[in-house]
Amino acid sequence: MALKSPAEIEQMRPAGRFVADVLTSLREHARIGMTTNDLDAHARELIAKAGAHSVYLGYHPSFGAMPYPGVLCTSVNDHALHGLPSDRVLQDGDVLSIDFACQVEGWVADSALTFQLGTTTPEAQRLISTTEQALAAGIAAAQPNARMGDVSAAIGRIARQSGFGLNTDFGGHGVGRTMHEDPHVPNDGRPGTGIRLKPGTVIAIEPWLMAGSGDYVIDDDGWTIRSADGALAAHAEHTVAITKRGPVVLTARD
Ligand code: MF3
Ligand code: CO
Repeated sequence: MALKSPAEIEQMRPAGRFVADVLTSLREHARIGMTTNDLDAHARELIAKAGAHSVYLGYHPSFGAMPYPGVLCTSVNDHALHGLPSDRVLQDGDVLSIDFACQVEGWVADSALTFQLGTTTPEAQRLISTTEQALAAGIAAAQPNARMGDVSAAIGRIARQSGFGLNTDFGGHGVGRTMHEDPHVPNDGRPGTGIRLKPGTVIAIEPWLMAGSGDYVIDDDGWTIRSADGALAAHAEHTVAITKRGPVVLTARD
């Protein structure tokens, strides 16, 4: 696993800033009655305008049935991860997760947020805020020379004490010139174990939780990860550079 120099981490900032700004813009743009394809089209315009490069479009990892057809993952309600943009119309109260990664000036950043459209419900809000807290705890544990297990344990502790369903498939990952690099960042673990987080490590931390059991199924579309029992799901992600002075969130939104 390649460490990034302080200069390289500075070079990653435009990608982080762009990914953050696109997510903010999508959140403002999302409306009841729109389709998730409309959101994907909005992101495509922003990518084209910025001269950025989608790392989703055409991506074909082992966990997808065919090359990825969009520039976003849009996961609604029981759809937890890798939701394909579609002609699905957004409804009042929908819990929408948007996951977006993009390459800018040769470097990638990856981030996700979840919010509820229109009328909010306490259960969905608690699920979303717990997922955000798990992300914040993971980031706070990503201190120079800490261990990966410290990050994983911090995420897992919040998840387990909430009582929400936790599944440790599809955790975080290293980020650099490409989206998915070493090391893997599990969403649960034991403190004091795993690799040492040396300054120059850049990782995406991405807890995802389900309001029911921790089981999931893969949709017939071959990509979308859905909760097995139909319960709501949420996902939050930031790209974080570990520096001598502590974790720096490259995808921080204003
Ligand atoms: N960005 C997602 C992650 O957080 C992965 C998306 S896979 C894709 O790691 F194929 F949709 F691009
Ligand atoms: Co990611």
